[in-house]
Amino acid sequence: MSQDGRILKFEIFRYNPQKKDDTPRMVPYEVTETPGMSIFIALNEIREQQDSSLQFDFICRAGMCGSCGMVINGKPDLACRTLTSKFKDGHITLLPLPGFELIGDLSVNTGKFMQAMSERVESWIHDVNADNMNFNKLEERMDPDIMDEVYGLERCIECGCCVSACATKRMRPDFLSAVGFMRLGRFYLDPRDKRTDEEFYEIMGDDDGIFGCMTLLGCEDHCPKNLPLQTQIAFLRRRMAMVK
Ligand code: SF4
Ligand code: F3S
Ligand code: FES
Repeated sequence: MSQDGRILKFEIFRYNPQKKDDTPRMVPYEVTETPGMSIFIALNEIREQQDSSLQFDFICRAGMCGSCGMVINGKPDLACRTLTSKFKDGHITLLPLPGFELIGDLSVNTGKFMQAMSERVESWIHDVNADNMNFNKLEERMDPDIMDEVYGLERCIECGCCVSACATKRMRPDFLSAVGFMRLGRFYLDPRDKRTDEEFYEIMGDDDGIFGCMTLLGCEDHCPKNLPLQTQIAFLRRRMAMVK
């Protein structure tokens, strides 16, 4: 429950890499808390009333688009789904998600990473025999339980929290990360994708792929959509270990 009217003390990372001579620093701001206030609402208030140059991203404000990921009091999370009332002492520190190119302040380029990941895992159904030009043909039937699993993994909103929460990604810049494993798991499970285990191995069978994961589980702890990352990573690792 929000403590109506208390003063929230923010410390926000500020740095504009486009600006010559700018230096990274933490800047304090104060905001009066209102009922149901989220970090996103507080940031908007700061931008509207105190500093119009503050950069941060958002689109949906409903935990659906994944653009408002940032490090909130040391943990990657979505600004639009985090209530300020959660922080009992009223002190809130905000940093951009590590592991991504910084655009400025709290804004990072997750899109660049996600696009490269999608291309690397060839994020589409592979079936050379599919008759894609016959629009009258009914879609292939799918077992409802498998479909549930596939669409469960599609709940990923590409927020990048799992990438930032993973120490392996810090050590290995090309590490595919949990979001990449979720995408591969989604196609691996989909019976319409005819790729063989050997073909999946070519994509993820090395230390930048599934064998580089050290089961640190920061990804599992910080996924705001509660995707079954641990289970999927273990499943893929088992399958890939059996190849060859
Ligand atoms: Fe975000 Fe979870 Fe998807 Fe990672 S797996 S990008 S934490 S929704
Ligand atoms: Fe990283 Fe998650 Fe593996 S945090 S090391 S991808 S279990
Ligand atoms: Fe879309 Fe937060 S603004 S997830």
